[in-house]
Amino acid sequence: MKNSLFLDAALSKATVRPPVWMMRQAGRFMPEYWEIKNKYSFLEMCKTPEIAADVTMLPIDLLGVDAAILFSDILVTGEAMGGDLSFTQGVGPKFANPVKNQKDIDNLQTDVLDRLQYVADAIKVIQQRLNGNVPLIGFAGAPFTVMSYLVEGGSSKDFKLTKLFIHNHPQLAHQLLQKIALVTIDYLNMQIAAGVNAVQLFDSWALSLSWDDYKEFSHKYNVEIIAKLNRKDVPVISFCKGSSVFAPLMAEAKPDVVSIDWNADLRNIKQSLPKGIAVQGNLDPHILYADKSVIKDRIHRLFKRMEGENGFIFNLGHGIMPDIPFDHVKYAVEVVKDWRGASS
Ligand code: CP3
Repeated sequence: MKNSLFLDAALSKATVRPPVWMMRQAGRFMPEYWEIKNKYSFLEMCKTPEIAADVTMLPIDLLGVDAAILFSDILVTGEAMGGDLSFTQGVGPKFANPVKNQKDIDNLQTDVLDRLQYVADAIKVIQQRLNGNVPLIGFAGAPFTVMSYLVEGGSSKDFKLTKLFIHNHPQLAHQLLQKIALVTIDYLNMQIAAGVNAVQLFDSWALSLSWDDYKEFSHKYNVEIIAKLNRKDVPVISFCKGSSVFAPLMAEAKPDVVSIDWNADLRNIKQSLPKGIAVQGNLDPHILYADKSVIKDRIHRLFKRMEGENGFIFNLGHGIMPDIPFDHVKYAVEVVKDWRGASS
């Protein structure tokens, strides 16, 4: 690997500067994304390996980040299991057949790798294009977060149906979570076999849960997934919004990296975790709307805070918003690369 900053930091080795990549680095804030998006639907883009590869490469070519992330979505596992998934501009993801009862759970399939073969195909095309320059991160949605979409039928502000489901029907919820966990293990191992260099487990909406519910309905399954990955030399990143609170539990699942939202003092979190667990984060993505002088100042503050700590990957606390100016994102990457004159 020509640029091994990301993999070194993920494995808690020393690096000349923190590596940088950003969640949602390939998306609507980029004019070049729209040129492709205007021709195809989002799912067509995900399911056509050449197009998924084109989009995956945009932030490598235009921003110069230190890692690529597969262009796909966390909800493709739910679709492969039998969810009727669509993405509509301005509406977001929809499952037309939400899960409500035992019959709906029984109808979901777990032997679904054939239906996700397009992802393995995309990974092979992307690795040819990357040509050993930077590593490729694969990913999947964590069971609780994927379940929330299957139960709500789409995005939710308060997760009312999901919480009712786990509180009133815990046994059904566990059946559903276990099915998603099985698929997620197979799916991530398929990505590793196809050639990704790291994997990230996205449990975006864990922050909606209480400590006890997080342990029972989210953490338990993330532990199982991480334990069953064929992870030799492939670092595992665990992400959730809520990680400022749940980090100690997340670390128990033994990922290589815990990705932290922007509420926490990253140094405190890092020092509270067992040795050998790296951290990723944790700039508030809203900082990227602000003036460039503010962007530079906040990145420098974070870097000073993390100085002397091995195992630090710069990222946002959550994804880039679609209306953040492209040149601000590019500027943030330049600030990281110029840190202490490292300019690599
Ligand atoms: O990070 C990347 O650039 C890689 C690609 C990626 C996408 N989605 C592409 C996408 C990744 C890693 C995801 C993960 C994902 N998807 C998450 C976890 C990360 C997070 O943000 O918490 C979640 C919760 C989803 C579900 C999802 N997908 C929603 C809620 C939406 C609609 C809202 C939105 O941001 O548009 C999507 C659609 C989606 N996924 C788009 C992209 C580029 C936008 C599609 C479009 O162009 O309209």
